[in-house]
Amino acid sequence: MSPAAVDNATGAQPSDALVIFGATGDLAFKKIFPSLHEMARAGRLDVPVVTVARETWSNERLCARARDSIDQYGGGVDEAAFAKLSGLLRYVGGDYNTPEIYDDLHTTLGEAQRPVHYLAIPPSAFPNVIERLARSGGDRDARVIVEKPFGRDLESARTLNHTLRKAFAERDVYRIDHYLGKAAVQNLMLFRLANTFLEPIWNRHYVDSVQITMAESFGIGGRGRFYEETGAIRDVVQNHLLQVLALLTMEPPIGNDNEALRDEKLKVLKSIRPITTDRLVRGQVTGYRDEDGVANDSDVETFAALELEIDSWRWAGVPIYLRAGKQLPVTATEALVRLKRPPQHSFSGINLTPGPPNYFRFRLGPEVEIALGAQIKAPGHGQVEPVELLACSDKDRQREPYDVLLSAALAGDTLLFASAEEVEAQWAIVAPTLNQDTPLFEYEPGTWGPEQLSEKLGAFGGWHKPGA
Ligand code: BG6
Repeated sequence: MSPAAVDNATGAQPSDALVIFGATGDLAFKKIFPSLHEMARAGRLDVPVVTVARETWSNERLCARARDSIDQYGGGVDEAAFAKLSGLLRYVGGDYNTPEIYDDLHTTLGEAQRPVHYLAIPPSAFPNVIERLARSGGDRDARVIVEKPFGRDLESARTLNHTLRKAFAERDVYRIDHYLGKAAVQNLMLFRLANTFLEPIWNRHYVDSVQITMAESFGIGGRGRFYEETGAIRDVVQNHLLQVLALLTMEPPIGNDNEALRDEKLKVLKSIRPITTDRLVRGQVTGYRDEDGVANDSDVETFAALELEIDSWRWAGVPIYLRAGKQLPVTATEALVRLKRPPQHSFSGINLTPGPPNYFRFRLGPEVEIALGAQIKAPGHGQVEPVELLACSDKDRQREPYDVLLSAALAGDTLLFASAEEVEAQWAIVAPTLNQDTPLFEYEPGTWGPEQLSEKLGAFGGWHKPGA
């Protein structure tokens, strides 16, 4: 085998095989096979893909499952891409608790010398698989991708980091937060850093408040058992929303390497004070307790709204609001940065109030939008009216985050993955909220959360409701 070319951007050697643990699971079915198919179609996949699971399946059965998944979740099968993908797929089945499966994996990997192992398995299985992989020599010159949730609190995240560190160097560990694979989330950082007009106002002197909303019009989608262990804070606030906030508020990275970005994200995450429970409102949607796998007295939240503060020179005193919920009126993830109002409210007969303040609105999904809210003179005399200037609007389907992230991990590029310290800093922020000992308010499906929200936790300038 000829030595693999060194990837120019990262200085890393690309992996020469992709191993996927959990190949028969839900994540593989909904996200991973469709992404592999897209990678094959786009010419981004040309290494063996060894899939691993507990079931004893044949290669044919695996291929049939992959076809089904691509049909249902990948927008239909492209026969040429599928032929390429199925030519690369291999299957290894067996018990993760026995050495045989790791021996079979080793044999199936054949000449591959630098595999990347993707753990798309339940978190409780991570330590065992990592340790057994290491014992069988499967960690040699290998990388590992770890699916979320990364632990369920600070202590378990630390333990998992410790387990990983015994087998892999930190540069070879890829912690997935699929929000980092979204073009809109990457755009957030680029828009901030590539535009000179933004930097002078991106601070407490001009910004009044920041709100990040992740609204989903659908429910828990049959994942009752998983959600009972998780809830909205663990499921999306600790990871997706805090990563978005970090990109929105970090200092510009200095230097060209991946660590520069991860260091700045870490610095801002560390300067966020742990959320206090009096600045938190939890909600549970009516009907949640009737879902399969959910306890009939469950106090797990399907909605959370909270306020936090960043203790830094740039952001001191600026209230930051995060909100996430299932079965809300729309599906939209949006960050809204409201600016302070001008100091003078009327002049020469023109009245500037009560119009909305200027704002930047970043729609991060399902579509991409960046907009600036401004005021202009309305036709006639003495009035202003609000307008939105659209900097970008892309309603097209974005590249699947899993395609982006798997391609990056294969290339050895850690930029879009969270570091050990980042994940721990994120858990430290939400730690006081995890005991489910704060009041839980019920809300109706299709509403913006519990009625008590504005009374218990008013957002400065009002809670923003992203449009459909
Ligand atoms: C996952 C959560 O991490 O993100 C889900 O477990 C959530 O509950 C999903 O629905 C949302 O992802 P996206 O990319 O559809 O916004």
